[in-house]
Amino acid sequence: MNLKDQSKIQDVAIIMDGNGRWAKNRSRPRIWGHVRGASVVSKIAESASDLELNSLTLYAFSTENFSRPDQEVNFLFKLLDKFLIKEKQKILKNNIHFRVIGKFDFLSEKTLRKVRELEDLTKDNTGLKLRFAFGYGGRAEIVEACNTLISKNLKASEENISKHLYDEIINIDLLIRTGGDQRISNFLLWQSAYAELFFTNTFWPDFSSQEFQDILSQVSTRERRFGGIHTSSETEFQKENQTHL
Ligand code: FPP
Repeated sequence: MNLKDQSKIQDVAIIMDGNGRWAKNRSRPRIWGHVRGASVVSKIAESASDLELNSLTLYAFSTENFSRPDQEVNFLFKLLDKFLIKEKQKILKNNIHFRVIGKFDFLSEKTLRKVRELEDLTKDNTGLKLRFAFGYGGRAEIVEACNTLISKNLKASEENISKHLYDEIINIDLLIRTGGDQRISNFLLWQSAYAELFFTNTFWPDFSSQEFQDILSQVSTRERRFGGIHTSSETEFQKENQTHL
């Protein structure tokens, strides 16, 4: 694969931040921001599917989010349940391969059943790989992978760790964060090693398909070198650097 092919944006991840502030600006409770945020999830997943991206991974609930008030935490669990009911047909119609990644066994049996059912129904779909990171932490994911290697008596190598992560998507091309903060917050630490980063001030409930497409176009023009350099040939390199070699 040449550098040009590698540069194509195919695997995208989003930290969907700013729901609370969006609601506060409208004198509404924080959870209203999450409700509006959930409808944006549906629109952006549809755009990602239309744009024929390989994958879209969304940070819906981090391990750190447990420190929020119980009511907000429980509301987010319910929102996931509702999302699974509401979006099921659209996910099936669009040939989307759906999975939840993380340690989410704290969810109710009822929700877990819906997750498993949708994962199972879509497992052979060949369209967009849509991932919900729920109960997800990047460090925990790497630690779990290492512990599995130890239990299997395998040595730690990049290849072996990659194979034992929660999911098959091991390289993210673009990581977007909405809401104005510029940090990664323990999201896809291994997978984002060479990701392009894009931070927007837009709060998640205001994030639109148009902005999503604009970000993709803008980032596609960035030169991605993956630690290499762009020279047309060995000979050209020698010519340019001759006096110092
Ligand atoms: C961060 O905004 C957002 C979350 C912790 C949850 C993300 C959830 C959604 C976008 C709703 C969709 C989820 C499902 C399960 C369908 P924040 O509350 O930290 O915002 P703030 O930084 O303005 O307080």
